Amino acid sequence: MCGIVGILGKNPVALDVVEALRRLEYRGYDSAGVATLEDGQLTRRRAEGKLRNLEQKLSREPLNGLIGIGHTRWATHGRPSVPNAHPHATDKLAVVHNGIIENFAEFRAELEAEGYRFESETDTEVVAHLVTREINRGLKPIEAVGAVLPRLRGAFALAFLFSGEEDLLIGARNGPPLAVGIGDGEMYLGSDAFALAPFTNMIAYLEDGDWAILHRNAVEFRDVTGKVVQRPAQMVAAGAALVDKGNHRHFMAKEIHEQPEVVTHTLTTYIDMVSASVRMPFKETLDWSQVERLSMSACGTAYLAGLTARYWFETLARVPCDIDVASEFRYREPPLAPRNGVAMFLSQSGETADTLASLRYAKSQNQTILSVVNVPTSTIARESHIVAPITAGPEIGVASTKAFTCKLVTLASIAIAAGRARGTISVAREQELVRELIMLPGLMTQALKTEVQIERLAHKLSKARDVLYLGRGTSYPLALEGALKLKEISYIHAEGYAAGELKHGPIALIDEDMPVIVVAPHDHLFEKTASNMHEVAARGGRIILITDEKGAAETTIPTEATIIMPTMAPTFSAMVYAIPVQLIAYHTALVMGKDVDQPRNLAKSVTVE
Ligand code: AGP
Repeated sequence: MCGIVGILGKNPVALDVVEALRRLEYRGYDSAGVATLEDGQLTRRRAEGKLRNLEQKLSREPLNGLIGIGHTRWATHGRPSVPNAHPHATDKLAVVHNGIIENFAEFRAELEAEGYRFESETDTEVVAHLVTREINRGLKPIEAVGAVLPRLRGAFALAFLFSGEEDLLIGARNGPPLAVGIGDGEMYLGSDAFALAPFTNMIAYLEDGDWAILHRNAVEFRDVTGKVVQRPAQMVAAGAALVDKGNHRHFMAKEIHEQPEVVTHTLTTYIDMVSASVRMPFKETLDWSQVERLSMSACGTAYLAGLTARYWFETLARVPCDIDVASEFRYREPPLAPRNGVAMFLSQSGETADTLASLRYAKSQNQTILSVVNVPTSTIARESHIVAPITAGPEIGVASTKAFTCKLVTLASIAIAAGRARGTISVAREQELVRELIMLPGLMTQALKTEVQIERLAHKLSKARDVLYLGRGTSYPLALEGALKLKEISYIHAEGYAAGELKHGPIALIDEDMPVIVVAPHDHLFEKTASNMHEVAARGGRIILITDEKGAAETTIPTEATIIMPTMAPTFSAMVYAIPVQLIAYHTALVMGKDVDQPRNLAKSVTVE
């Protein structure tokens, strides 16, 4: 994830900006830069690699401006290099950005046709020229930003600095977080409170769609329509822990909401945005064209991520694939492929005992061991031949959320790479699938907007004794994950079932007391699932449908609630439909007063059998 800082100061700010960027190093980066305004003129210093390289450049060529922005860049569009490092600038402004501007290519072509010259391969530079063009057309900086923001698609956090404007910073947020720090005659912008802790602990957070206009003695927040809104400042514990809850009540809420940002980070690890192709970050080669069989094993939510990925390995890459929970796999000691077998182990912590034991069994069977983990220094990673990091960042809430969706993105990328190697995916199909992955942060940001509706629904669900989740295709593992999330933090008994199995037993459970949560994007299986909903309705069951506009329009039976997801290609709907499933569990447990981050009887990492 990239890091953003802005300071409207009373003294030279360049070294303070670097100090704040250092507190964002945990996000990972490969270049950094600062821009300040001196006598109305914009000046930049940028460097590849670590912050010390930027500091050396600043010591040789100091910046003395009293207003500045800074950035640590994790390369998305364009390789790590000085020309691609932020801030990007024109003669009118400088800008730094965290996230992905999905529709950058169309803007770049439009601007180049009008004679704008680009110095980088980044999506961010498009934003610099778009706002500059509005200023060249006569708009003031604030109006120019207000004109451009609604046209940007994707997940982004931005900070702007303008030539000749000695008392103005503008920040904008749609997905990745952005905080405003209020000082004494100074004002700050930062990706989180931790970055601003050396300067202030009075923090106000932008909501999705917000932008903020900062002057040294005042800040104004506007929503996406430009209407002035209130975002109250709060005292954030000085020296906030490296991982703070941001403006959320629980780590789980923060981790649900940061999924657009961390998924962006995972995408940049496995996707080349410019060529729309997958690239594996590990140096070891795995020739998928020779793989005879893939075995997967994991526990809990990690297992359900694998169950989801099996659909992609089988349908996209035509790899024969089996999967089992690690506690069964390790004792069943299944016969594995005698040659060219790959065994994949999924684990957020990388320390789960059953998963580790299964890995050791597979290794004894001469399998190539590939682990998909959130902690690349963990035991499971260290004992693997190949490690695929999910780069979700620290996950504190016991109920796994962002690690689930980051695993899915990692697994989807590997499945696409496998399909390319096996000749089951063409270059054109790869580009199509990768573009679908690139859309995910923006789609997840939209899915998060159903939270208010889900909060209302949670009050009803909190009174249920049992809940049934149904789904088909990749929505089936999602039904299992929804049931797991709900039971592990609200303690309500919940079961997930393949919708097609309803008639083979579970339908006996259906009555007016049984909420049935149906996960059903309008894909090739929707009609089948719709029939199952009719069977439930005919027995008085309470249906809660998670679908898209088309699915809602075709649903003729009454539902207790219909949660509408953004319309999207069906292949990777699991990453987006995971969000309402997570929010349902979170808000139901909240209504019930449960300890959301530390549910009873559970540990974050089960390092014993
Ligand atoms: C998920 O919400 C649970 N906390 C639990 O099922 C977890 O996914 C499981 O224990 C596996 O943990 P790991 O990913 O660290 O191996």
